Amino acid sequence: MTVVTQASELRASMASHGQPRVLVPTMGALHAGHLALVQHAREVAGAEGTVVVSIFVNPIQFDRAGDLAAYPRPLAADLAACRAAGVAVVFVPEVAAMYYPDRSVTVTETQLSRGLCGAARPGHFDGVCTVVLKLFLLSGCDMAVFGNKDFQQLAVIRRMVRDLDVPVTIIGHPTVREADGLALSSRNVRLSAAQRADAPRLRQVLLAARAAVQAGARTAADLLAGARHGLAASPLLRLDYLALVDADSLEEVARLERPAVLAMAVFYGEVRLIDHIRLEP
Ligand code: PAJ
Repeated sequence: MTVVTQASELRASMASHGQPRVLVPTMGALHAGHLALVQHAREVAGAEGTVVVSIFVNPIQFDRAGDLAAYPRPLAADLAACRAAGVAVVFVPEVAAMYYPDRSVTVTETQLSRGLCGAARPGHFDGVCTVVLKLFLLSGCDMAVFGNKDFQQLAVIRRMVRDLDVPVTIIGHPTVREADGLALSSRNVRLSAAQRADAPRLRQVLLAARAAVQAGARTAADLLAGARHGLAASPLLRLDYLALVDADSLEEVARLERPAVLAMAVFYGEVRLIDHIRLEP
């Protein structure tokens, strides 16, 4: 496994590796969710292909300085996990290797990124699009794997690739969860024991919404009130947003008439967690 820190090294290293080249972009603190993406990348790449993982805590996608500073960075463990998972190249750039001090070009998606996390975290998806496009260009990847846990991010990246004719095939992968339903996240390690014990509530509230739909509920008002009630029962969390959106346009809907997504973000103290569920009428 080759570990490179400079953009020029990444280009040179990728040129000597076989195709297809499958990229898994991450911010590190790798958990079983990330490793499921890597495993899937390994399968897609096949015997001749190359899996490349990037580990970069991208400062321009953080809206809160404290969240950026507190983001876990266990590099040695991450590299060991990549090696064990059959990764050929790991790209671990410093911030200075990715961004010129006077950089002035940003990629902005203007529709799908307006609501949900885009509204709650201004500039977040500009930062994501910009770094992901750079990682595509630097790695010369043919395909890239993203988790559906961040379903708005996945939708925004698919739109960027479509609208800018980026020659990279985007592959989505299902959310990996703990046994109690909590979606794996690098931020989970920052939860206290009490917060961690409470956090499966997110998934329970979403599953209750799906059960309500199966029992006939159709209005956003009913579904949102039920979910809000379930979340309000916890004294430990603070709701950031809760919304029912169309599964394709990500616009808020008043009634469940087509596939939709019930999405939420909550804070446990300073730790922000997101989750969602797809609902079909
Ligand atoms: P990060 O949060 O490290 O996530 C990297 C990838 O892992 C993303 O595609 C994310 O959706 C996926 N992932 C995270 N938790 C998962 C889970 N429980 N199950 C399945 N997949 C999961 O997302 C980012 O980093 C950044 O925004 C990035 C795309 C790297 C750009 O900086």
